[in-house]
Amino acid sequence: MTDAARPALLLTGPVMEEVVERQLSGPFTLVPLDALDESNAGAVEAIATRGKTKVDDALMARLPNLKIVSNFGVGYDTVDAAAAAKRGVIVTNTPDVLNEEVADLTLGLLLATVRQLPQGDRFVRSGQWTKGAYPLGPTLRDRTVGILGMGRIGKAIARRLEAFAVPVVYHSRRPQADVAYRHYPDLVEMARAVDILVAIIPGGPATKHIVNKDVLEALGPNGIFINVARGTVVDEAALLAALQSRTILAAGLDVFEDEPNVPEAFFGLENTVLLPHVGSSTHHTRTAMGQLVVDNILAFFDGKGPLTPVAE
Ligand code: DGY
Repeated sequence: MTDAARPALLLTGPVMEEVVERQLSGPFTLVPLDALDESNAGAVEAIATRGKTKVDDALMARLPNLKIVSNFGVGYDTVDAAAAAKRGVIVTNTPDVLNEEVADLTLGLLLATVRQLPQGDRFVRSGQWTKGAYPLGPTLRDRTVGILGMGRIGKAIARRLEAFAVPVVYHSRRPQADVAYRHYPDLVEMARAVDILVAIIPGGPATKHIVNKDVLEALGPNGIFINVARGTVVDEAALLAALQSRTILAAGLDVFEDEPNVPEAFFGLENTVLLPHVGSSTHHTRTAMGQLVVDNILAFFDGKGPLTPVAE
């Protein structure tokens, strides 16, 4: 097929070459975002997303023949799904293939934060151990964990926490029929009742800064906040202030509001564990996510419909 006859696939970031590019460069002309112009915009029928670039209404308006946005990631907060729906453009994401890895990472980050593991590593490397014992720290024993967002990953986190025999409760907009843990309709009330708050809700305008000053104050001076969702779900300035003033005890953060830019004030905080958004970053999972990006596009163009469309 000549380039002129093939539909084009717009890539908003560096996709997984070995998965996405290899399989889609046959049926599509691949167009990196910085090569999009008036000469090729009309040919673009699909977008494969990657990274922070927003697929907003302005971008979609430039692509009159766009049919599908295949998002790399279960979180699709960078895609304006409402605007896509109005334009009749389908949006897909990559659910399920990352549940176990994100849940594993969450438990790792939670334990690292509660038991101060990175701090212990720094203590050994800097030679401080020879000068005295490592200070005693908090425990997970008997702590109540509140999960903010009881979706598929939230459930995988809760399953793991059962092995630690700690009470689990959750907050979501509605109680879920298949979940036996106590449901709190009010987030501040749940924060008051728990010792550790784990955020795993979707990002986007509906959840922006849902973890605010009030929630952090309710979590209290022994409280620990773990964020494996999106940086936008917490008011980062309020979180920084709460960590600095010991309004809460500690935080473990895998995500940031303007990542990869992390406010420098976090770097000096000993009560904070910082990770570079690695919840799903194993070879296995990222390959499966890339494959689902491909499969959604191919199934759609084969007339079978998208495999994992998002609900809007
Ligand atoms: C997701 O899939 O949303 C993960 O956060 C990786 O981006």
